[in-house]
Amino acid sequence: MIFRQLIEPDSSTYTYLIGCERTGQVVLVDPVYDTVERDLALIQELGLKLAYTLDTHIHADHLTGATKAKGLVGSKIAAPKMDNLSCIDVGVEEGHAFQVGDVVFNPLFTPGHTDTHHAYVLEQGGLTHVFTGDCLLIDGCGRTDFQNGDVHRQFQSIRTKLFSLPDDALVRPAHDYKGRFISTIAQEKARNPRIGLDKSEEDFVEIMQSLNLPYPKRMDYAVPGNRLCGECPPELPEEMRRLCETHVQG
Ligand code: FE2
Repeated sequence: MIFRQLIEPDSSTYTYLIGCERTGQVVLVDPVYDTVERDLALIQELGLKLAYTLDTHIHADHLTGATKAKGLVGSKIAAPKMDNLSCIDVGVEEGHAFQVGDVVFNPLFTPGHTDTHHAYVLEQGGLTHVFTGDCLLIDGCGRTDFQNGDVHRQFQSIRTKLFSLPDDALVRPAHDYKGRFISTIAQEKARNPRIGLDKSEEDFVEIMQSLNLPYPKRMDYAVPGNRLCGECPPELPEEMRRLCETHVQG
């Protein structure tokens, strides 16, 4: 397996490049609009071909690079089936493996940050990787206060699904705001200050409800834009459309 962890610094998003050595096909997990060209250049440099982009959820903080990549290299768009997006080529769902070459992703429905959020589990060479999206982060977790987020569902997703993975499973989050790259399920169980095993559901709810996080600056165009797999929606109010278009024009 070919693996690269790429960062988009403005939104502190991690995009994962996962390639099949036998077929040369690549999947980009959570590509960002702003860094798609960089990611495609790397894929070309490695002598590989982008087969799919795969998003964990409808992001509020950045535009996905899914449609842009498709336009540039003809990759297909995979995303949670329950998002019901007309722009996707393959809808993924729990219980159905998503396979590209020898790389197999097992989707896990992990609502809470959004109501359709999915994590992806990949087993390779005796290691378990879990792409946790914004469900579980290193020493943290995604917020639950918008996009049909639900703090109780988030608690269940992490405790019953993600924490049921092997302790040595490698946690590959969609973001880190402090320059950390990787964690493990055991480490998150032991020391995650929000949802480590020493926290009750009541503790978690209280912590999440007292975060007082700012409104994401791109949310008003990113969410509808990501429902188009990363385009500026034509029906946006004038000011928002200008912001979105300024963004996509770089
Ligand atoms: Fe998110």
